[in-house]
Amino acid sequence: MIYLDHAATTPVREEVRRAIGVALLDGFGNPSSTHQVGRQARALVDRARDQLAAVLHCRAREIVLTGGGSEADNLALRGVARRARGRHLIVSAVEHEAVLETARDLVSEGFELTVLAVDESGRVRPDELVRALRDDTFLVSVMLANNEVGTIQPIAELAAVTKEHSKAYFHTDATQALGKLSLDVDRLGVDLLTVSAHKVYGPKGAGALYVRQGTPIDPLITGGGQERNRRSGTENVPGIVGLGLAAELAEAEREVECHRQAELSRRLTDLIVGQIPGALSTGAKAPDRLPNFTTIAFPGVEGELLLLRLDRLGVCASAGSACSSGSLAPSHVLLAMGLPPALAGAHLRLTVGRQTSPEDVERAAEAVVASVLALQAAAPAV
Ligand SMILES: Cc1ncc(COP(=O)(O)O)c(C=O)c1O
Repeated sequence: MIYLDHAATTPVREEVRRAIGVALLDGFGNPSSTHQVGRQARALVDRARDQLAAVLHCRAREIVLTGGGSEADNLALRGVARRARGRHLIVSAVEHEAVLETARDLVSEGFELTVLAVDESGRVRPDELVRALRDDTFLVSVMLANNEVGTIQPIAELAAVTKEHSKAYFHTDATQALGKLSLDVDRLGVDLLTVSAHKVYGPKGAGALYVRQGTPIDPLITGGGQERNRRSGTENVPGIVGLGLAAELAEAEREVECHRQAELSRRLTDLIVGQIPGALSTGAKAPDRLPNFTTIAFPGVEGELLLLRLDRLGVCASAGSACSSGSLAPSHVLLAMGLPPALAGAHLRLTVGRQTSPEDVERAAEAVVASVLALQAAAPAV
């Protein structure tokens, strides 16, 4: 089996598995309890928060631990909306559903939404953002890197123009960027930033929202007042331990792995595009794309059939986002980038990871080429 779907999720790495095991045993206490068992659990949570704060270059108290990336996105949008003076928010057209659907939901609550268009590589233009900003804009949310095509947004520039032209807060979903890009929140100039553990060899159901000190935000989950009243509920200690360590390790090996993975992705793209007439490499080119992404559209091929064939050949791939799989509708990201719907349907996303070898890439490319050529031969020309 060759797993090339690391943008969907990653296997939990050995060090993290061990740390979670220890946390389950020694950290079973309730971090809010004042006795020694509780204090032991609290120490584990504090350590993980510090590890994450080091990766984000922020203060530990600015981190709200959540049940994953989707919850962090929801907290950013809904939590800031509840305290907002303005009624207008801006998101990009290529956001993950956790942002896009949440923004649409806020419209049903009476807020006004502008969805920013992107260019053919999936990037938002800063001048378009400036045009969309209003006096009553309270939040701008643009992801750091896209989960379907890996396009990296010019976040520092987008955050800077937001601050220059408005009073809005700036949120970025950095779920795909953790372990791939520097997430220094001051350099990025963001007020809110989302991460999730399971994209960096950590457990599912653990994530965090960075909230810059002074950013007004209401909790979505109320109760015992954990996380400085920003997210109630007894802490998921093993998950949090896994998040902290996974983020720390991903950051430590970031440069070496990014270089290695970029080479693998380049080879994968060259091998496939070079052998299939009409194959179209989609998304941005390096350096504006995550190093682990290869995305290619194939004319005359049914996307779902291609994935089935690859699965039979032992290659785990994706048509784009796994989060919306099951739906055959063309992806909103590809359509926003202007890819014709027929091509969007035959879109392949291959995302390499820390265990992917050059041999895996050669074998996967062979499987893709054989499958696409067979499907093209069987399908009527488009
Ligand atoms: C860009 C992006 N945002 C948010 C999420 C949601 O994160 P989670 O699966 O932790 O809820 C994902 C992944 O599924 C993602 O790729």
